[in-house]
Amino acid sequence: MKFFVDTASLDQIQEANDLGILDGVTTNPSLMAKEGITGQDNIYKHYQTIADMVDGDVSAEVIATDFEGIVEEGKRLADIAPNIVVKVPMIKDGVKALSYFRDNGIRTNCTLVFSAGQAILAAKAGATYLSPFIGRIDDINWDGMGLIGQIAEIYAIQGYETEILAASIRSSKHIVEAAQAGADVFTCPLSAAMGLLKHPLTDIGLEKFLADHRKGNS
Ligand code: E4P
Repeated sequence: MKFFVDTASLDQIQEANDLGILDGVTTNPSLMAKEGITGQDNIYKHYQTIADMVDGDVSAEVIATDFEGIVEEGKRLADIAPNIVVKVPMIKDGVKALSYFRDNGIRTNCTLVFSAGQAILAAKAGATYLSPFIGRIDDINWDGMGLIGQIAEIYAIQGYETEILAASIRSSKHIVEAAQAGADVFTCPLSAAMGLLKHPLTDIGLEKFLADHRKGNS
């Protein structure tokens, strides 16, 4: 399972990259705004910086919502670097644009996915990645993780090659369950991924090993 860090913060990307477990980066317009990156030129420059920092795929989201606009913006984003993946919303013109990008060798991430039906459309349109938003589904008391399992089953039965990118992850529990449910990738803030490290028995065991070492060497 691949790990993408879900942020536009260069510090967080660097920290995740330094761990040696980072496979890519996802961003969205809200994350760019949170870092104070505004204006199209600055946004493109920021994507360039991120794409230079990591070896893996960097999802860069289009703002346009009409077919021509999505295609124009997507081509400009894809030109930034070979590891840029164009992030396209799950809307009718987005599906048409996903097909266009597939036919023109541009890799994509279909975002804002909340149902298995949307996942089928995105796969048929040739999306490289599919981003179902687990946390936001849970927020409205539906079953985000159940959706990951359902999509994984459908994709396996149908032989779809689109990779399932579990997004809107809020906890380390989500990560483990998404892996079990068949997601190919998880994306989350570094803090959620670092939650995987934690276990009280590790802390207690390490404390005892170090104390015993000190006793034996005093
Ligand atoms: C990733 O591609 C998504 O944009 C992101 O995971 C959304 O997460 P959120 O629901 O926590 O904003």
